[in-house]
Amino acid sequence: MKLKIALLSGDGIGPEVTQQAVKVLDAIAQKYGHTFTFEKADVGAIAIEKTGNPLPEATLKICANSDAVLFGAIGDPKYDNNPDAEVRPEQGLLKLRKNLGLFANIRPIVTYNSLIHKSNFKKDVIKGTDFVIYRELTSGIYFGERSISEDGNTATDNCTYTSEEIDRITHLAFKAAQVRRKKLTLVDKANVLATSRLWRKRVTEIAQQYSDVKLEFLFVDNAAMQIILKPTQFDVILTENLFGDILSDEASVISGSLGLLASASIGNHTALFEPIHGSFSVAKGKNIANPLASVLSAAMLLDHFALHDEAEDIRIAVEKSIELNITTPDLNSTNHFSTTSVGNFLSDFILDDENTFYNKNNIDLGQSTII
Ligand code: IPM
Ligand code: MN
Repeated sequence: MKLKIALLSGDGIGPEVTQQAVKVLDAIAQKYGHTFTFEKADVGAIAIEKTGNPLPEATLKICANSDAVLFGAIGDPKYDNNPDAEVRPEQGLLKLRKNLGLFANIRPIVTYNSLIHKSNFKKDVIKGTDFVIYRELTSGIYFGERSISEDGNTATDNCTYTSEEIDRITHLAFKAAQVRRKKLTLVDKANVLATSRLWRKRVTEIAQQYSDVKLEFLFVDNAAMQIILKPTQFDVILTENLFGDILSDEASVISGSLGLLASASIGNHTALFEPIHGSFSVAKGKNIANPLASVLSAAMLLDHFALHDEAEDIRIAVEKSIELNITTPDLNSTNHFSTTSVGNFLSDFILDDENTFYNKNNIDLGQSTII
C-alpha cells in the first residue's frame, strides 16, 4: 500500500516522539513492502514563530492532500503563562480538527500486565481494563461563541450541539461497540444541560438500530468516579467534547503513564493520529520523552487503513519493550532508555522478531536482536 502522511511534529517533545513513530512505520514498510512517504509541515508555537499563524495555509494544504496526518504535540510555556495571548498554539490544533472535519476522537484505554504493579491504583481494580472513549471533537463549548463584556467582568462560552453532530459520532461508537463487548455508555449531564438532553434523545433513538448493544447512561460527575472505582465496567464511552477531554486525561492514569495513550481523530476524509499527551516542554530535547504514545498512534493509523497485521506488529513490539523494561524514565526509574533507543529497539524488533534474545547494549547499533 502507498500512503502519503503529513508529519506535523509541532512543539516540545513532539519532534522527538514522532521521529520514533516514523522509524517504526519505516520498519513496517520495509517488512511488508509498503511505501509510506512523509511530508513535514509546521503547526503550533513553531509555526507562530515562523509565520505568525499557528496553522499556516501551507500546512492545511499538505494535510488535505495527504492520506493521514501524524501529529506530535503543541504548546509552549510562553503561551501557557499568558492567558491573554491572542494567538495561541492550541488554535492550530483546534482549527486543524475543524478544517479536516475530524468529528470523532477515539482514545483507547488499556492496561499492560507488566506495568500494573507500578500503578497508583490497586492491581485488582485496574487489571483487565479495556475501554475506548469516543469524544466528539468539532463542536460543543470548544467551538461555541465566546465573549467578554466591555467592563471585562462577564464572560460567556456557548455550548451548542445539533442532532447531526450527535448522530454521526453516535453511529461510529455503536459500530465500535458491536465488534467489542457490545456495551455503550453515554456520559452526559442531562440532569442540568439542554445539550445533554438532546444527546440522550438522539442516542436512545439511534440505539434501536443497534439492538445487540447494551446502552447505559451516566452523569459525568458519576462517570469521573466510576472510571476510577471500577474501570473494567466500561467498553465504549461516548461523550461530548469537553467531558471527553477531561475524562480521557483522568483515564490515562489507569494505563500507568500519559506517555502511553494514543488517539485517532476521524471524519469524512483525512484522519489524524496523535498522542494524547501534550508538548511536555521541560523534557524537550533531552531524549527522555516516552515515544510509545506516538508509536501506538502510528498503529492506529495502520488500523485505519485496514493494515491490521502491521498494527498488531507494532503493539507486540511495544508490549515487548515494556516487558523487557526497555522504556523511558516515566516507566522505568532505574536503567532507563532514551527516546531514540526505545524507537531503535521497536524497529529492530519489528524487522527481526524471530529472535527472542536481546542484547540491550546493542540497541543503538541497530543490533538489539543480535547476541
Ligand atoms: C487534547 C488537548 C487539546 C484539547 C488542547 C491542546 C486544545 O488537551 O487533545 O485533549 O483540549 O482538546
Ligand atoms: Mn486534553
